[in-house]
Amino acid sequence: MKLHPQTALIHAERKAPQLINTIQPPIYRASTIIFNNTAALFDRHWTDAYDYSYGTHGTPTTFTLGDNIAQIEGGNYCLLAPSGLSAINLVNACFLAHGDEVWVADNIYGPNMEHLRNLESRYGITVKVYNAIDVESFQPSEKAKLLWLEAAGSVTLEFPDLINLVKKAKANHILTALDNTWGAGLAFNAFDFSDQHLSVDLTVHALTKYPSGGGDILMGSVVTQDKNLHHKLFRMHAIQGIAISGDDAAQVQRSLSSMQIRYERQAETALKLLTWLKTQDIFAQVLHPADPDNISHTFWKETCQTEQSAGLVSVIFKPEYDMTAIRQFCDALTLFKLGFSWGGPVSLVMLYNLKDMRQLEHSHLQQGILVRFCIGLENADDLIADLQQALKFIEK
Ligand SMILES: Cc1ncc(COP(=O)(O)O)c(C=O)c1O
Repeated sequence: MKLHPQTALIHAERKAPQLINTIQPPIYRASTIIFNNTAALFDRHWTDAYDYSYGTHGTPTTFTLGDNIAQIEGGNYCLLAPSGLSAINLVNACFLAHGDEVWVADNIYGPNMEHLRNLESRYGITVKVYNAIDVESFQPSEKAKLLWLEAAGSVTLEFPDLINLVKKAKANHILTALDNTWGAGLAFNAFDFSDQHLSVDLTVHALTKYPSGGGDILMGSVVTQDKNLHHKLFRMHAIQGIAISGDDAAQVQRSLSSMQIRYERQAETALKLLTWLKTQDIFAQVLHPADPDNISHTFWKETCQTEQSAGLVSVIFKPEYDMTAIRQFCDALTLFKLGFSWGGPVSLVMLYNLKDMRQLEHSHLQQGILVRFCIGLENADDLIADLQQALKFIEK
């Protein structure tokens, strides 16, 4: 058939003459995936990871990244989502229904709590809040379906009593989901931790942070070892239309090879800052789970046997320093930029009013404004010098 040039251009053979080996895999961009014939269409098994059906179900590019993330975290299966928060949402949508009870740590990532409260008010789900370092505060009823964990918890960085919380959840047949963004699959293996063959059921990871590493890509993942859980998630993922772009997946894939080195460097710099911050009289408290003075230090030590910790450290200013003073400090920083998120090359700072954030009483936390530092890849001495000069701008 002689084709019009316009038609010929559209239907031109697009396959390269032969495949070559490259350091990074090729990038697939797809909404439509073409079936070779009707038999292939009707025989497809779209819930099996590698049976391609439509762009939202995945491409070789997204499956390769998912496999890598599962491997890093010690799981078997992975689903990718357009942000860490949407991965959290996928777990909540998949495993919570009307009448269920969900347990969530008081220091969980704030938008997860907000998301659960929204489900509570609209869909009749009960949200119960526990203290991550006090297993007795976790008292599940028969309706409890899901326990959310985060290690270390957001902003105040308490490392949870993971061993006892997971044991108790398992004894009560409650599904455990861990926000694994801080550990990134590097600080500890969430699917086999503390030499006790303990495992959470699911991990959620904001790939936006360490795996991306650039401060420029949003992505999330849900990893499990259990095929049945994965299939449930896979179906929910498909019917919610959750999809990521091949280009974004390739960017994260490219960064994975340097993730461990970046993680270790940022953790090392955070420890140097911790030591320096503890010498400063202006702070009532410096918060980091690897600090032997930290209330959750033993939980961190028994779980993170590699002695790894991420690049986050928080401080609570003494109560005589009010919000105006702390804002002067933050505005005076030059290397630390004011912004949300972490895991990128640029160090970030964010300020929080603790009393607006916690629902339980926490006697281990001092009163005062909290500032969280997220360590980038800059030199540690330069960062300390930046803090030092900015502290001079504070007026009592
Ligand atoms: C602990 C934690 N989990 C999840 C998220 C959500 O990730 P994303 O920003 O990709 O939605 C964040 C973001 O800051 C986070 O800090």
